Amino acid sequence: MIRKTLLIAFAMMTLTACSKDAPEIDDYDPARDYFTFANTGQFVTEHVTLDLDVDFEKQELRGYALLTMRRLESEAGEVVLDTRDLNIASAAVLSGEQSAAAEFRFGETDELLGTPLIVTLPPEAGERFDLVLEYSTSPESTALQWLPPELTAGGKQPMVFSQSQSIHARSWVPLQDTPALRITYEAKIRTPRNLLAVMSANNDPLAARTGEYHFEMPQPIPSYLLAIAVGNFYFAPLGEDTGIYTEPELLDASVYEFADTQAMLETAESMFGPYEWGRYDLLVLPPSFPYGGMENPRLSFLTPSLLAGDRSLVAVVAHELAHSWSGNLVTNRTWRDIWLNEGMTSYLESRLMEVIYDVGRANEERVLGYRELLGNFERVPENMQALAPRMTPRDGEDSQGTIPYHKGQLFLEYLEAAFGREAFDDFLQSYFDNFGWQTVTSELFLDYLDEHLLSAEGAPLTRANVEPWLYEPGLPDDAPVPESATLIAAAATAADWADGALATADIPVDVWSAQAVIHFINSLPQELAHNKLADLDSVYGFSETRNAEIARTWFIQVAERRYASAYPQLEAHLNRYGRGRLIAPVYSALVANGEDLELAREMFERAKATYHPLVARWIAETLEESPG
Ligand code: BES
Ligand code: ZN
Repeated sequence: MIRKTLLIAFAMMTLTACSKDAPEIDDYDPARDYFTFANTGQFVTEHVTLDLDVDFEKQELRGYALLTMRRLESEAGEVVLDTRDLNIASAAVLSGEQSAAAEFRFGETDELLGTPLIVTLPPEAGERFDLVLEYSTSPESTALQWLPPELTAGGKQPMVFSQSQSIHARSWVPLQDTPALRITYEAKIRTPRNLLAVMSANNDPLAARTGEYHFEMPQPIPSYLLAIAVGNFYFAPLGEDTGIYTEPELLDASVYEFADTQAMLETAESMFGPYEWGRYDLLVLPPSFPYGGMENPRLSFLTPSLLAGDRSLVAVVAHELAHSWSGNLVTNRTWRDIWLNEGMTSYLESRLMEVIYDVGRANEERVLGYRELLGNFERVPENMQALAPRMTPRDGEDSQGTIPYHKGQLFLEYLEAAFGREAFDDFLQSYFDNFGWQTVTSELFLDYLDEHLLSAEGAPLTRANVEPWLYEPGLPDDAPVPESATLIAAAATAADWADGALATADIPVDVWSAQAVIHFINSLPQELAHNKLADLDSVYGFSETRNAEIARTWFIQVAERRYASAYPQLEAHLNRYGRGRLIAPVYSALVANGEDLELAREMFERAKATYHPLVARWIAETLEESPG
């Protein structure tokens, strides 16, 4: 019970619940996507045309999707698509000059995967055809959050945004929802006149607010990168190819916080090869955005909790930008290989942080990631600790925690250390060149690594050194251990202060980075009197901090230690933020302290209307499953 509870606290991914029809492990096929119903061996989609009305009153998108498809097997007569809570009004097939209605039916609904839509092709359908589906979404769409004005910064206009990764695109577009395929797309979106629509496509910073917007996405993307947001957005430039969309209330703060974005883009290009996507803009959303950031191509979506006022949390932007190479250009074939997206991106993120800021800052973040990784090894079942696990839907919610991020990053740092930065950079560049616009499995990565680095004469590592990273739990004995001088000092300070060797007023919090403060808080010894915590809080005001990551760390400690004097501020934290990472572990810590389950439930009841449906579900599961 508790283990699952804590796991959900670290929820990052959205592969929820368990599925009954999951395959046996014995015949596990690493190249197969177990998270889609689509018969992609028989048909593939090449282009999607969307024509949608955005109806805030009914909380639905309504219109049609036209899928330009190719038949791979001439005998195949039924197209199976992924859907979830979609209403399909009609289906038709256009082929050459011909047009014919098509019969369709839904298959059995799976709680996790949604409902297969089976379309029978009329005889007219050729090898290449357009499948037109008239449809509407439902208010329960797991990808869409419909925000009433009160939940936006401006408080006057409604908003809607999507979060398609991992398997939620199917809840706003009927399609083959798998990262294994790439599509180009175009869209016509009609909105209330005063609002602006943006997509993971060619947004025009100068677009007139007409209530009708056209988008083209000429670069082929996997379905989980389909994205849309409609709201009272305005644009401000950051540099020649970069800028920000957000509500006017957040525009100035965002321009300040993310001022380094253009430099990040230029640095990334010099390190990883050309940026293939045109512009790179940011969209800063309301607090209920469930993640820190989402790498929607050309337009990363971001949580406003990054607006700390001191640029201390911008590693998330470096991360989302880096996905333009690792993830968006070279894509994991299935969700089982997510480390190829997230681990590679975390590695590139810290390389960027070194250049834009300095090695010290990058090392601080590496150490925090490593600490989180060790914590994950205590909670995640062993069979999900491998970078390339035998993962199927039955493994359940968030089966790997943040292991793909931090273990993946460490693995690449291990390779870099062995082969040297120069050789490893050459390898990465050639990897992006070679696999650009394609998908990769862990096995393909390993073969490519073998061919280019491992099998060279005198290579410092062999396949036998590398395979345990991919197929075994925990870390190999020769794994590197990140170090940061400033964080070592912060941990030592925590011990000294706890022992009484250092006065509260003499802790150098004011000169520390946010990362050092976080490490200090995390390093406080288990046994610590509440009056010591009170002392710390009264001098440094942790309960009042507006740095969301410091607040998260602090309130986890507050909850674990049952430091109830800070519970009012803890609850304010749970109401201020909606990003899963910032709040779910605080709820879990309340549950895990053994006394506060009821309180946690009450706080959740008061806050949940403000949360994204996915985050609300993670937390509800944490609170429901607990005894008591
Ligand atoms: N692509 C992820 C978010 C994601 C992962 C959504 C899996 C759904 C399923 C994004 O790039 C990400 O990793 N965000 C992190 C940022 C952090 C690691 C710098 C987040 O939201 O915390
Ligand atoms: Zn990521």
